[in-house]
Amino acid sequence: MNWNNSITSLFDIQYPIVQSPMFGVTTPQMTAASSNAGCLGSLALADLNAENCIRLINETQKLTDKPFAVNIFVNEIPKIDDTLTHRYYKAKSFIENLANENGLKVVLPELNTIKITDYHDQVEAIIHQKCKILSFIFGCLDDESITLLKKNNVLLIGTCTSLEEAKILSEKEIDIICVQGIEAGGHRGSFNPNNIPEIGGLSLLSQITENVKNPLIYAGGIYNAKTLLAAKNLGAKGFQVGSLLLGSTESALKPFEKNRLKLVKEHEIVLTKSFSGRYARGIKNKFIEILEHSDYVLPYPYQNKLTYELRKIAKEKELTDFVGIWLGQSINGFSEKSTFELLNDLIQETEDFML
Ligand SMILES: Cc1cc2nc3c(=O)[nH]c(=O)nc-3n(C[C@H](O)[C@H](O)[C@H](O)COP(=O)(O)O)c2cc1C
Repeated sequence: MNWNNSITSLFDIQYPIVQSPMFGVTTPQMTAASSNAGCLGSLALADLNAENCIRLINETQKLTDKPFAVNIFVNEIPKIDDTLTHRYYKAKSFIENLANENGLKVVLPELNTIKITDYHDQVEAIIHQKCKILSFIFGCLDDESITLLKKNNVLLIGTCTSLEEAKILSEKEIDIICVQGIEAGGHRGSFNPNNIPEIGGLSLLSQITENVKNPLIYAGGIYNAKTLLAAKNLGAKGFQVGSLLLGSTESALKPFEKNRLKLVKEHEIVLTKSFSGRYARGIKNKFIEILEHSDYVLPYPYQNKLTYELRKIAKEKELTDFVGIWLGQSINGFSEKSTFELLNDLIQETEDFML
């Protein structure tokens, strides 16, 4: 099978397969292993401060000399006003009590101690580290950042969850568009955090292929040759896989989280805002059931910062009811093979299928 296309030549890679950036799961080892397998590794930097971005990029650069992408969140930050402050302290007290009732002693942060990252600092760090590919979600970079990154020869991958968002990215001359179907695990890349488009991958990808000229990467539900080729038939040139790699040797997930993933049933996979304030797809648990339709979910990034300490302690104590375990709709058996082997299996299976 000839894998060469616009994505392999733009990124200078062998196979147009992209390892999803997965904050909390992706490690420099996973990113490097993906790039070393001839695919495009992606290092998830989410909203880490510049110093931590530089540390992780350095670590990855030591493990591979192949191209890899870095990934950030470019959302707007809601202003702190009296209403938000009032809501914050109500949610803080509710969640602390809930944790306490469930045997978890946790003190959540005061609002004025929370540190919010400005993505412009990350952009500077990325340029400083000479990264050549940047993917982003939760909106579009501002014009100054686009100009600056392009001047420094950084290829840009924007994420969309609707045709409207794809058109905005295209008009802003973002080089490549990642089309995220509703099946995808983890956070929805949607621009608007509240009314997210909920469009299935088939409908979304075919609409965007017909209306937008940029090379497209498809993300959402790809886990074997057939799902990859379905995306190819609908016009995708790149194939992004996330959930497939959750169980891999290089995944940062702990054994108790991998065990939970192995046992998951289809009705347990839901979209929730309760942990971060932005919709994400993962496994339903007690925290989600109680919080989801309550008044105790703040806008991102405040909910994310508020629940951080709870998630950290719950992870230490291995309590699945209070950690966010993200996963897409394609349940795939969660192999604990290495990233390299999992990607190679996908490549091999696709080649065999095409014979
Ligand atoms: C655990 C997890 C964390 C994720 N974190 C990010 C992230 O930090 N940045 C991002 O752009 N996408 C993130 N995603 C979404 C992926 O980039 C991608 O859209 C998704 O994994 C594709 O669907 P699949 O999981 O069915 O393969 C995450 C997905 C998962 C499963």
